[in-house]
Amino acid sequence: MLDGQKVLFSGIQATGRLTLGNYLGALRNWVKLSDEYMCFYCVVDEHSITVRQDPATLRKRSRDLLTLYIAAGLDPKKNCLYYQSHVSAHAELAWILNCFTYMGEMNRMTQFKDKSAKHEDNINVGLFAYPVLMAADILLYQTDVVPVGLDQKQHLEITRDIAERFNNIYGDVFTIPDAYFGKVGARIMSLQDPLHKMSKSDENPNASIYLTDTPDDIMRKCKKAVTDSLAQIRYSEEQPGIRNLIDIYSACTDKTPEETVREFENAGYGQFKEAVGESVVSVLKPLQDEMKRLSGEKDYINSIIKENAEKAAYYSSKTLRKVHRRIGFPDRIR
Ligand code: TRP
Repeated sequence: MLDGQKVLFSGIQATGRLTLGNYLGALRNWVKLSDEYMCFYCVVDEHSITVRQDPATLRKRSRDLLTLYIAAGLDPKKNCLYYQSHVSAHAELAWILNCFTYMGEMNRMTQFKDKSAKHEDNINVGLFAYPVLMAADILLYQTDVVPVGLDQKQHLEITRDIAERFNNIYGDVFTIPDAYFGKVGARIMSLQDPLHKMSKSDENPNASIYLTDTPDDIMRKCKKAVTDSLAQIRYSEEQPGIRNLIDIYSACTDKTPEETVREFENAGYGQFKEAVGESVVSVLKPLQDEMKRLSGEKDYINSIIKENAEKAAYYSSKTLRKVHRRIGFPDRIR
């Protein structure tokens, strides 16, 4: 709780190109949550450097991501939209929490195992301690709920463990956060391999719809989507490709899968894919237009960046001060 309101925290890394899956599964639902919670939506640029980044690209993608938050409908007066690197409390608390986290715990993290297999030449300490920085992000704001995908569930659990451990030693300092699994958080799968999640790092360019794709790209990718030879539009486990297209169409048109199935009962796959493509275009085109418009409003975006970093710094410094006091760091002389 902060100022009598329940707190929600989430973050996205500004690496890779964002996909339709990121938008329908996360961003779009965040907008709905901002009525209910005091929301902190962070561009977690400090997490990004656990893997080598090109400086100019990282800077541009971070700015684009923050702009996208606003374009997607997050009101920057109501929500705190900011860069992690602008608020030094994140790195400071992460250091402290490192001292309350065991090597064995971090060694068990599946994402660390996956990423170190992928980046064998750069298994750095930051990659290892990545979940501790994430714990700091969350705990700094006395967060009640964290909307996360399944891939981040383990990191949230370790956050709770670290917070409980700290509280057991020093008394109630941190709120213990819960995971928030959205009601309709659409899980969008790859168009080429519908048993796997649509991913921003997929090497097959037809597998993912990127938020920057043109209408032509979108239509082409939808038409090429892998389906089956059953020639029926049913929402079933046996037809993962069709099921995914039904999910995409339903999410883009705000319908239930049942309604979508009824609508296309007698349609062929070609016709259905066309309609799916059009529904995606109808969602992404306005988003892209708004992105373009906002990108031109440099002063406005800059003012949001400054104000929100100050707001985040205000709240996070309260928690950090409390932590310092409890662990025995000397008071500052003012
Ligand atoms: N690790 C998250 C991801 O890769 C991003 C993230 C960083 C995050 N800090 C967070 C998500 C805090 C939720 C809360 O998706």
